[in-house]
Formats: sequence, C-alpha cells, structure tokens
Amino acid sequence: MQYRFGYKDNDFYVEDVSLKEIAQAVGTPCYIYSYSTLVENFNVLRDAFSRIDPLICYSVKANSNLSVLKTFAKLGAGFDIVSGGELIRVLRADGDPSKIVFSGVGKTEEEMKAAIEAEILFFNIESIEELYVLNGVAKGLGKKARIALRVNPDIDPKTHPYISTGLKKSKFGIEIDRAVEVYKKAAGMEGIEIVGLDAHIGSQIFDLSPFMESVRKLVKLADVLRKEGINIQYIDIGGGLGIKYKKEDSPPHPKGYADIIMKEMDNSYGLILEPGRSLVGNAGALLTKVLYLKGGKSKNFVVVDAAMNDLIRPAFYDSYHEILTVDKSLGDDEIVDIVGPICESGDFFAKDRRLPKVKKDDHLVILSAGAYGFVMSSNYNTRPRVPEVIVRGGEFFVVREREKYEDLIRGEVIPDRLR
Ligand code: LLP
Repeated sequence: MQYRFGYKDNDFYVEDVSLKEIAQAVGTPCYIYSYSTLVENFNVLRDAFSRIDPLICYSVKANSNLSVLKTFAKLGAGFDIVSGGELIRVLRADGDPSKIVFSGVGKTEEEMKAAIEAEILFFNIESIEELYVLNGVAKGLGKKARIALRVNPDIDPKTHPYISTGLKKSKFGIEIDRAVEVYKKAAGMEGIEIVGLDAHIGSQIFDLSPFMESVRKLVKLADVLRKEGINIQYIDIGGGLGIKYKKEDSPPHPKGYADIIMKEMDNSYGLILEPGRSLVGNAGALLTKVLYLKGGKSKNFVVVDAAMNDLIRPAFYDSYHEILTVDKSLGDDEIVDIVGPICESGDFFAKDRRLPKVKKDDHLVILSAGAYGFVMSSNYNTRPRVPEVIVRGGEFFVVREREKYEDLIRGEVIPDRLR
C-alpha cells in the first residue's frame, strides 16, 4: 500500500498538497483525509476477498463525513449503520439502501421504522426483547423486517478492553448457545424474515486467530440452523481489523485476513464485512498549531490548538498516535508532552515524546486519525468542531466547514421566567 502522507523535501504533504498550504487556507486545527488512500484501502480489501466477492459494509461510525461515504458508495460499498442519523447520512450520500445493515444494542422504534421504510438489507438483532419490538413495528407497517441475529461467540480478541465486544460478559449480542432457540422464536414471528447470522468481536485486532475462531463458530451454527429449516443466506463477520499507529506495529495485511476467513467459508453463504478503522484510519490526520511552549522543572509542554474534544483517543484509550512536525528542518529533538488547551489533565496527545524543537506557530500533524477522530469530537469547553478536508491529487476540498460560535448556541434559549 502506498503511503500518501509524508515529507517532500522539508514539507509534509498529503498526496500532492502541502499541509502548510492547507493550514493557510483553512486554518487549524483541521482534519485532512486522503482520497486515494480511501479508495486504495477499499480496493485492497475487495481484491483480497475477490474469490468470494463479499458485500463490504463500511462501518459508518468510524468516519461519517458525507464525502467519505460518497467515496465508498461510488466504489459499490454497502454500509453498517447504528442509528437513524447514520441512515440519513448514507442516504444523503447516495448509498444503496439495499446494501445497509443496521447494528446496535439500543435501536428505537422510530429508527426501526425509518430503516424498514428505506428497505435496508437487514437488521442485526442484539436481544430477544429487540426482536419482539421490531416484529411489532414491521407488522404495524404491514411489512416484514429482514434480520440476522448478532451472536456473542465468546472470543477474546486480545485488544483494548473498551473495544472488545465478543466476550461472554459484554453487553453485545445473544449468547451463542441460545441462538438456535431465539432463531426458532424469530421464525414464528409474522413481521420477521430471517436472512443472516452476525458477530463482531472487537476492534484494532492484530491476531488473526480470533477472527478464524469466530467465523468457524458462525459457519457451524449456520449449518445447524439450515438443518433446522432456518435459511441463513448471509454470514456477517463484523469489522475489527487493526491498523498501524506506531512505527513498530505490524497489523495483518488484508490479504492474510481474507485468506484465513475464506478458508473457513465456502460459497454456500454470502459473506458480509463491516470494516471501519481499516478503511479510514490511515487515510486521515489532524493538523494542529503550536500555541505555547511551557517549560517546567520536570517537564516541557507543547501546548497546541487541538484538544481532546477534537481527538479523544489518547485521553480515552491511552492510544498512541504518531506526531510529526510539518517542517522537517527543525532543530534537535527534545522530550515533551503534547497537550491541548482544555482544563483536564486527560487533555494530551502524547506524553514524554521525542519531538524536534518546535516554536510558537509551527505546525504538527497527528497521524492515523481518520477513524474515530472527528466522529468522536465534541464541543466541550464550547470549542467549535474543526473542519474536514479531502485531498485528491493536487487539489483539496473543504468537506465540512469549521463550526461557528453561533452554531454552538443554536437551539439554546433563556426562558423569560429564568431571567
Ligand atoms: N461492526 C460493529 C458492530 C461495530 O461495533 C464496529 C465498531 C465495527 C463494525 C467497526 O469496527 P472496526 O473495523 O472499525 O474495528 N472508538 C474506538 C473503536 C470503537 C469500535 C466500535 N465498534 C477507537 O477509537 O478505537
């Protein structure tokens, strides 16, 4: 895979546009995505699986910018959504509703209704209680809702506990031992049509064996279900493939991932994938500017204009993101903490990191921020959310503008009686 983030002479580029140029035109902080990387990540995954031609349902939660969705829609992707809001986004980006799967433990009746009316491919059902509600909603509309059950295969994906979802004690899915019983119940429901079986075991997974184990369990269960007269057409194996954050990380290549999965499956089921991070993570970066250098007795701080509200992953998961200076010609390295302006000690991007000596107004680029970056940002400290930019070759487009203070207080009122 060609990496499209890097230095040309002394300046950092995304594709053929220098970040200095973007900083000047758009200001900082801002997210920058590489169009060609998005396309290539999708194509590499698709090619890796070409023998069985799966439906790749991009997991919208990883990065839901309309232009990112449009890019994948044009490549023929389907979408994995988890809310009515994500449904609207996919439709707005001309995503094909017949390629949408709807996951999530807490779907509301309104969300179910909207998705049935949009004629999505199927719902991933996470509990028997949800099944009853969906049945009622579908019957009320005089329609059938297509479903897969999300089972919990009880597999440890050996990743961060916050993003492990397939363990017995997790809130996700139906225990695999109970699946046949729940499927039989579903089969008797007038508003339900069973089409698939689903699992998602976690995220940022480097070890391929949990995937293999999960697929093996799913195929075995699907075979049992077919024998029981329940016609499983699709097996949805979720997302979870890890990406490189640190130089020394070596995540599996999509080819290796595809090979172990295809080994477990023949053509008797349609395969569905729900990749998020592996399609967008390394296609994005957060550009920020140095505001202050704050020297202390025991620590040197570089205070930048981005903060934990813009990229929460370091604060939330203690995750590592590579951080580079946009200007490569700066002086000797020093050890610093890179922190934001928010009033929380969790507001940091890196601790005890070696960085060339920067000065006020220099730019830094925080890499691998394309997944779970902007989408997890907030307005904490009444900070406007930052713009998003897509670079394609030598051109760039602002695909989401910077919020204004007025956007932040829209909808708030001070009632007369509180005055
Ligand atoms: N399918 C389901 C049902 C999911 O819950 C997820 C992610 C995916 C697919 C996509 O997984 P991926 O391919 O991106 O690993 N905010 C965390 C990650 C949370 C993942 C949530 N579920 C982070 O920043 O690391």
